[in-house]
Amino acid sequence: CGIVGYIGHREAYPIVIQGLQRLEYRGYDSAGVAIYDGVDLKVCKTKGKVADLEARVAQDITTNGNIAIGHTRWATHGVPNDINAHPHLSNSGDLVIIHNGIIENYDSLRKELTTRGYTFESDTDTEVLINLIEDVKLNENVKLGKAVQIALNQVIGAYAIAVFDKNKPDEIVIARLGSPLAVGIGDNEFFIASDASPFIEYTKNAVYLEDEEMAVIRLGKPMKVRKIKDDSLVVPYVQELQMNLEQIEKGGYPHFMLKEIFEQPSAIKDTYRGRLLAKEGIIRMAGIDDNIERFLNAKRIIIVACGTSWHAGLVAEYIFEDLARIPVEVEYASEFRYRNPIISDKDVVIAISQSGETADTLAAIKLAKSRGAFVFGVCNVVGSSIARETHAGAYTHAGPEIGVASTKAFTTQITVLTLIALKLAKNNGSMSNSDFHHHLQELELIPEKVEKALQSDPHIQAVAEIYKNAKNCLYLGRGYNFPVALEGALKLKEISYIHAEGYPAAEMKHGPIALIDEQMPVIVIATKKGHYEKVVSNIEEIKARKGKIIGIVTEGDTNVKQLADHVIEVPETLESLSPLLTTIPLQLLSYHIAVMLGRNVDQPRNLAKSVTVE
Ligand code: G6P
Repeated sequence: CGIVGYIGHREAYPIVIQGLQRLEYRGYDSAGVAIYDGVDLKVCKTKGKVADLEARVAQDITTNGNIAIGHTRWATHGVPNDINAHPHLSNSGDLVIIHNGIIENYDSLRKELTTRGYTFESDTDTEVLINLIEDVKLNENVKLGKAVQIALNQVIGAYAIAVFDKNKPDEIVIARLGSPLAVGIGDNEFFIASDASPFIEYTKNAVYLEDEEMAVIRLGKPMKVRKIKDDSLVVPYVQELQMNLEQIEKGGYPHFMLKEIFEQPSAIKDTYRGRLLAKEGIIRMAGIDDNIERFLNAKRIIIVACGTSWHAGLVAEYIFEDLARIPVEVEYASEFRYRNPIISDKDVVIAISQSGETADTLAAIKLAKSRGAFVFGVCNVVGSSIARETHAGAYTHAGPEIGVASTKAFTTQITVLTLIALKLAKNNGSMSNSDFHHHLQELELIPEKVEKALQSDPHIQAVAEIYKNAKNCLYLGRGYNFPVALEGALKLKEISYIHAEGYPAAEMKHGPIALIDEQMPVIVIATKKGHYEKVVSNIEEIKARKGKIIGIVTEGDTNVKQLADHVIEVPETLESLSPLLTTIPLQLLSYHIAVMLGRNVDQPRNLAKSVTVE
């Protein structure tokens, strides 16, 4: 979920509604706002997107007022409907809250409050929390900030909240545990949001609350941050934001996803800028340099991640083992933590996350740390929770990724992981000098090769037209390109809702081959350097069963061209770098199919970009 709030001298509603639009990547199944207009509290909420909320607000309420909070939801407790949408009011109607996270003990709290006469309109854990706050406030006769603190000490779960009292409309109380919360500090005005994007045009000064911290934001007063547990004061660290407005706008593209696909040449360059010094034969990465012994002494590397980032981790497994000869295990963050994993201080854990906020990944990191492992983060969002929770790390510097289906984050994650693997390979002697230099030169050429791969876009669009009505799709790849096949299938599923499966090409004969008939498009990654002959044999097997073949091939390939129904070319590169190129046509294919089917490409149903619940 995404939360936004404003208190100051401006009209609050336009800031909040625009902020919600920018945070829609965090969830978009319902939305709501609460505004205090100087006399009354106006609340408006609806199932659907922020645009639906805007329309509803225009019909139902007046929007003037200098204090407001808003929420865009990714449903956890209770179906997405108007009633379950946030903000939620306390029983008296005085207190109003927005919440991102889950209150795990809400059921017992709800029962207890019910015995004290409280009633609940919604099925949400959040409505329980606001009534708990009200109960504490009335019974203990304390101010709102104190009441929030006492209530939160009874709560188990995760939250980022903002609460205000309509009888005291000069302050907002906020708190965080497990879900992100940023405060933009202006000139006698404050902005509150799940990330800084809602307020970048107003202020560059931001404070990110840490876990277990809360703050009372009062007009005319400096922000006071306290520990929720023991009430001790914390000096807030004011950070200067680097993001700019242009980066979070579409820049002429019809969708963020397409913009982000086409940004990959520059994004990859930004990732290796200042790190990859090909001429000098050096890779410079502070996070690795400062901890080189930990990496060189590591018995193994464990990679934890979710979704697309997990696929980047799988590619990294091939790179690390092949180039640096270090054993790697790649784990779904969620499974890792529920398995009582064997980890020690001899292990290095690498956590990969675009958002840096994924709750499962964060929990895996905490577990690994508690068992003595050194934890290294690969994140895109600067200052995110994972970036701060890890011992060291490297940012991908891909710029904001807004399309829910991840594209440039994936290729830049692979770029960072390649740099790390090469650096370790050089340091531990598993790679010759000349091989190392050759890799650096080839990596430096990747952005222009990605550019070239992108030029196939019109051809890919034509292929998409032919297969847009497929019910199922199979993606096959071997070696380095097996994870690319998984990622290709995930992209198609996510945004077109067509069922797709990724498989190692050779595994096809152990099951999925039964699915192949003349209706079934099979996308086969068959680049020159990746077990080419074997993959060509797999293509023959598909052809013999009349499957439709779309081959992703190296420029100038003739063999596959003869067998396949269509080929899409990518430039030649080293096998270890090929995922950076073969991924591109698969992203474009999914994109075009989804657009042709009329799907909401940037905000596919049921998904959220940043999943801050476990
Ligand atoms: C969500 C998104 C995916 C993403 C995954 C991991 O499920 O929809 O696109 O890959 O989370 O996110 P992270 O921010 O940790 O990379």
